[in-house]
Amino acid sequence: MNFRRAEKADFKRISDILKAIDEYHEKLVFDDFYVAEKDNKILGAVQFKENKEFFFLSSLGVDAKYQKQGVASFLINKLTQLSDKKIYLYTVIPDFFKKFGFKAAKQESFLPDKNIMECETCFPKRCVCMIKDIKNCPLNKKFCRKTL
Ligand SMILES: CC(C)(COP(=O)(O)OP(=O)(O)OC[C@H]1O[C@@H](n2cnc3c(N)ncnc32)[C@H](O)[C@@H]1OP(=O)(O)O)[C@@H](O)C(=O)NCCC(=O)NCCS
Repeated sequence: MNFRRAEKADFKRISDILKAIDEYHEKLVFDDFYVAEKDNKILGAVQFKENKEFFFLSSLGVDAKYQKQGVASFLINKLTQLSDKKIYLYTVIPDFFKKFGFKAAKQESFLPDKNIMECETCFPKRCVCMIKDIKNCPLNKKFCRKTL
């Protein structure tokens, strides 16, 4: 499987994947996406936005035909290996993210408003904030867009 930063030409395929699994929302801006692909076909994607002190992970989605084959694990492991800052996210499936070392966290005021992702119309009561605290970047290297 190949991991790379998404290009403009990929956005149709990414939005088709997200729409099919009900992860698409109207306010979604197609920047800072990363994809997992095999034989030139995008199987899954995730948005990973850099802020000064942290990354924010969102819109993780895998084509239903390729779920349960390690695609999301591949994407999350790549991003966490390359990240040298805390990673925050909102999710309705915290048990999934616990597998990768994410823990429940307070929704700090500096984090994006949930309404930006239309979370409030999703399952607000089930939606939790999580964090992965990257203390020692395994590759000891700054996350660098240019290297992806
Ligand atoms: C959730 C999702 C991203 C997982 O992708 P995937 O490629 O199938 O995941 P993987 O194959 O890497 O699975 C990794 C592990 O997570 C588990 N897992 C998968 N979906 C899960 C879920 N909804 N809740 C808890 N665990 C889950 C798998 O069983 C697997 O466990 P194992 O390693 O013990 O066998 C995918 O099912 C998806 O796109 N779902 C719809 C969109 C969604 O819910 N996105 C997240 C919103 S915050």
